[in-house]
Amino acid sequence: MTQELTQQEISITSGEVCPVAHITWSGSARPALAGHAMFDQLRAAAPILKVPYGANGFFLVTEHEAALQVTQDAKTFPQPSVSMETGDPTKFILIPQLLNGADHMAWRRLLAPYFSPGRVEGWEEGVRARAVSLIEDLVEKGSCDFVKDFALRYPTAIFLQIFGLPLDQLDDFLTWESAILHPEGPDPIENRKHAVAAQTAVTQYFAQMISDRRAMDPKDRPAGIATDALNWEIADRPVSDDELTRFYLLMFMAGLDTVTSELSYGFLHLATHPEHRQQLADNLELAPKVTEELLRAYPIVNPGRQAAVDTEIAGCPIHVGDYVVVSLPSAGRDEAQHPNALEIDFNRPMSSHITFGAGPHRCLGSHLAREELNIAYEEWHRRIPNYWIDETPTEATAGMMALNSLQLRWKK
Ligand code: HEM
Repeated sequence: MTQELTQQEISITSGEVCPVAHITWSGSARPALAGHAMFDQLRAAAPILKVPYGANGFFLVTEHEAALQVTQDAKTFPQPSVSMETGDPTKFILIPQLLNGADHMAWRRLLAPYFSPGRVEGWEEGVRARAVSLIEDLVEKGSCDFVKDFALRYPTAIFLQIFGLPLDQLDDFLTWESAILHPEGPDPIENRKHAVAAQTAVTQYFAQMISDRRAMDPKDRPAGIATDALNWEIADRPVSDDELTRFYLLMFMAGLDTVTSELSYGFLHLATHPEHRQQLADNLELAPKVTEELLRAYPIVNPGRQAAVDTEIAGCPIHVGDYVVVSLPSAGRDEAQHPNALEIDFNRPMSSHITFGAGPHRCLGSHLAREELNIAYEEWHRRIPNYWIDETPTEATAGMMALNSLQLRWKK
């Protein structure tokens, strides 16, 4: 089956300051890639559009250049201090993502060495072993739900490994992740209840883990970031347990589902484009280029900002307090930045994509993410070079785009 991008029902009308896009912003039952197709349509219309949604609507940035302008200028466009949906002040400031200015810089300085290229290189053997063992469990099955059976388990197990948390916690983490990020029930109110309960459970888990570690004799504490973190200092004072909990929660949200989602879109592309799959299977050393090109063409994060002053983006006036969403899934497919942007070319010259964001909030985990993706593409195709899908999966879209499932089949 070849996957085509499904056109979404959208309408664009003229507005006071820029075109207005009438779209369904969040939903969980669209055909896969309908979100990317929608962004392609919006980008063709304008570099920035107003979207009526939530409390006050938001401005959606579609072009690469404008996306760079917003993400690189954190003084004009800091992280939002209110919820886009309700307009209420953000209660739970996730660390470091929702921090601004000097507080944010201090945390980034503290965290940078833990996710540096050198540190990540040292984890390679463990990451590869995890990928190989998960794939070998699947080879003889002849089919799987790639999202549940591989793409969720893989980064979650690695997260537990590098933080020094018990691996027998894996199933709890998967349950919490599914409830928060992939609600499956037909009733949105029930789904929301499960998501809130799971978020409370995971927050309690981290808070309890920190207090248990503190109570342990230092020589008995398991090695890993979770033990190092007990002695972290920010601005010459110890980091509080509340801050550590907010850091773990952000790592849980930012570090797990992103990799799951990128892998799912990447494998959907490969399952539906046999010529690209064959190219990789015949040249496994191509894996890093495959990672880069699929990251460029299928970005998944739409980060939000809130204007701190009156300004403009691509000629559109923006007022203090306005909510701006930067569509990285659109920026990666912008023809002005990436010639033949809608074509996949593993030999594309060095790509300048901003799938990991840009500016001070650029992804802290990009080196780890690239390592996880490279290894997954390589080790999967070493063992399962040919596979296909029988039907189009569905996706959930909003701030993060994600496939709900991906049923792959192959000959045993
Ligand atoms: C393919 C996988 C990933 C993608 C596409 C991705 C993408 C992004 C993007 C676009 C941002 C910027 C958000 C913004 O501008 O507000 C971001 C931030 C972040 N990411 Fe990732 N990410 C990935 C994997 C990871 C991993 C594996 C980790 C951790 C181990 C991680 C940790 C973070 C953190 C901590 C931030 C917040 C940085 C800050 O605000 O200073 N990410 N990520």
